Amino acid sequence: MRQYVIAGNWKMNTVLSRAEELAQEIKQGISQSLHSGVSVVVFPPSVFIHPVAQHVQGTRIKVGAQNCSNEPYGAFTGEISTDMITSVGGEYTLIGHSERRVIYKESNEVVAAKVKHVLTTSLTPVLCIGETLQERQSGQTWTVLQQQLDAVYTQIDKTSAENIIIAYEPVWAIGTGVAATKVEAQEAHNFIRKYVGNYIDSTNTMILYGGSVTADNADQLLLQPDINGALIGGASLKAETFLSIIATANKLAG
Ligand code: PGA
Repeated sequence: MRQYVIAGNWKMNTVLSRAEELAQEIKQGISQSLHSGVSVVVFPPSVFIHPVAQHVQGTRIKVGAQNCSNEPYGAFTGEISTDMITSVGGEYTLIGHSERRVIYKESNEVVAAKVKHVLTTSLTPVLCIGETLQERQSGQTWTVLQQQLDAVYTQIDKTSAENIIIAYEPVWAIGTGVAATKVEAQEAHNFIRKYVGNYIDSTNTMILYGGSVTADNADQLLLQPDINGALIGGASLKAETFLSIIATANKLAG
């Protein structure tokens, strides 16, 4: 049986009414016979985690944050702590999304500190990694991925490391409409699985693909042996397309 995580990253979109409506639409549209191997997680803006979590309470839909602090609490204006996320019903958090790395200059070290902290809590970290177009074109893809993984995995112990979900998101594929081909994605996922194998038994590590996933390309990506799910941005803002991708995973898991 194959397992999949289908995750929707709403980024800085929606307002309260739309966030609640979207949560409701996903809840209503999700198949009653969702395969036990399929997990569904939505990542609303942090101010909407609470209402969204309330809407989906008791369903198979889980909720997460798009980012969090590496500090537990204190004088860090504007930051969101893991306890805050948990206390409003969040169970996951993205860490190191490329928009955090590129726009907000989060270094590998900062990302590692966040993962390290999150692993001391009940939240599941979704560690995002991926190369830029320039890095791919100059043949640095594998080095960049190695550095991003080393930064994190050298800082944490083996047991907790097994709880990390990885999202491979080539920066050039995010929001561009140009997804990695199934061959490119599988190659990168296989590389990541093997490389993480230097630290832990990565056979069952969940590695999600992100970057212009749509209802049309989801099946060929999810069919790849090392792709365990999808982190979906734009296409997760419409319940219809997000539900269609969940249905694809449901079919393939069964
Ligand atoms: P996209 O975004 O699906 O809109 O390309 C993916 C992501 O940034 O997680």
